[in-house]
Amino acid sequence: MTKKAIGIDIGGTGIKGALVDLRSGEIIGKRLRYETPAGGHPADVAAVVAQIVKELKVNVRQVPVGICFPAVVRHGITLSAANVSQDWIGFDAEGLFSKTLGRTVHVINDADAAGVAEIKFGAGKGKSGVVIMTTLGTGIGTAIFNDGILLPNAELGHLEIDGVDYETKASFAAKERENLSWTQWAARLQVYYSTLDKLFSPDLIIIGGGVSKQHEEFIPLLDLNADVQPALKRNNAGILGAASLAWKYRPEPKLTK
Ligand code: BGC
Repeated sequence: MTKKAIGIDIGGTGIKGALVDLRSGEIIGKRLRYETPAGGHPADVAAVVAQIVKELKVNVRQVPVGICFPAVVRHGITLSAANVSQDWIGFDAEGLFSKTLGRTVHVINDADAAGVAEIKFGAGKGKSGVVIMTTLGTGIGTAIFNDGILLPNAELGHLEIDGVDYETKASFAAKERENLSWTQWAARLQVYYSTLDKLFSPDLIIIGGGVSKQHEEFIPLLDLNADVQPALKRNNAGILGAASLAWKYRPEPKLTK
């Protein structure tokens, strides 16, 4: 039997989804993307998720569905909301998506999902010790692993350095907003990553997010104790990780008489 699951990656600007082959870590067929509805309210986001699942033409009764989201997610409840509506704070996201899709879904933090994808299929594959995954996008997402095991909801993008929430200075959005050159941005990344280095002594730091395809512009400018590698799954990492965890935590089939 092919091990497959649907992965959906909800972000502040786009919602992406695809069916994933979990043995190879590759997307099967097409990857769909829609804009996140203005305001990012739960009902509107759920409608886009339902549209994506419909277009994938997969029987959701037989294929697990995993969804990742830019928030702390504990037991399916979103406890924060970055770049989406504040309605998600303290909200039963797993309940909403399960009801909308007519099957149990698994919801997790977006950076945790991206990290799981890199550990299973990408730059962290086969790496033991402490690995920190970071995604540089609208915010900074982080995920911590020890010997491949995830410590969920790390939220280290919000580390306060020099009195500021540092994702506001070092995310890719900050680079764009302030028109920073690669060198100027790398100087901020150096401050951020050397703080991670000092606090956690990781063996490996993986840098993901869309900008990681231009890794040659900034990774060589960083001087850290940890090994630093660009993510390999880039913009598909959230989809792959969400699908992978949905498979792992898929509900047991119900017994019928
Ligand atoms: C959020 C995280 C999220 C990250 C990347 C941060 O602002 O607090 O939950 O993982 O952005 O989207």
